[in-house]
Amino acid sequence: MKFLFINGVNLNMTGVREKGVYGTETLEQINRQITAHFKEDSCAFFQSNIEGEICTAIQSAEADAIILNAGAFTHYSYAIRDAVASVKIPVVEVHMSNVHAREDFRGKSVLSEVCKGVICGFGKNSYILAAESFKL
Ligand code: DQA
Repeated sequence: MKFLFINGVNLNMTGVREKGVYGTETLEQINRQITAHFKEDSCAFFQSNIEGEICTAIQSAEADAIILNAGAFTHYSYAIRDAVASVKIPVVEVHMSNVHAREDFRGKSVLSEVCKGVICGFGKNSYILAAESFKL
C-alpha cells in the first residue's frame, strides 16, 4: 500500500517540545521507524506548520491512505476539514497523546467527522496503528 503521513503545526518540534507528552524521539526518527515497520509498503512523509500547505498536500496526495496528525489545527481548521472531505482517499486522524485526557479544547476535533477513524494516545505507535488498520 501507499501511505502518506502528514504532520501539521509544531510536529516538527517532536523530541524537543514537551518531552513528557510527545517523547524524546524526533519526527525524523519516528518516520524512519514507521518506514522500517512497513517494509512491504511505500511510506511518504510531509510536515508543515502552514495550514494551506497541509490542504494542498491532502488535495494532491497520490496514496491509498493518509495518516494525518494535524496538531493544533485539529481543533479549529475548517480548511483542513474541507480538504479531507474533498478527497476520496481515506484519512485517519491521529494524535500521539490522548487528547481526551488533556485540556478541554483538545477534546474537540473538527476533523473527526470527515475522517475514517481516529487513533490517539499511543505515542509514535498511533501512526503505525492507524496505518495497520488498512491491512487487516
Ligand atoms: C497532538 C495533540 C494536539 O492537541 C496538539 O496541538 C499537538 C499534537 C498529538 O499528537 O497528541 O500538536 O496532535
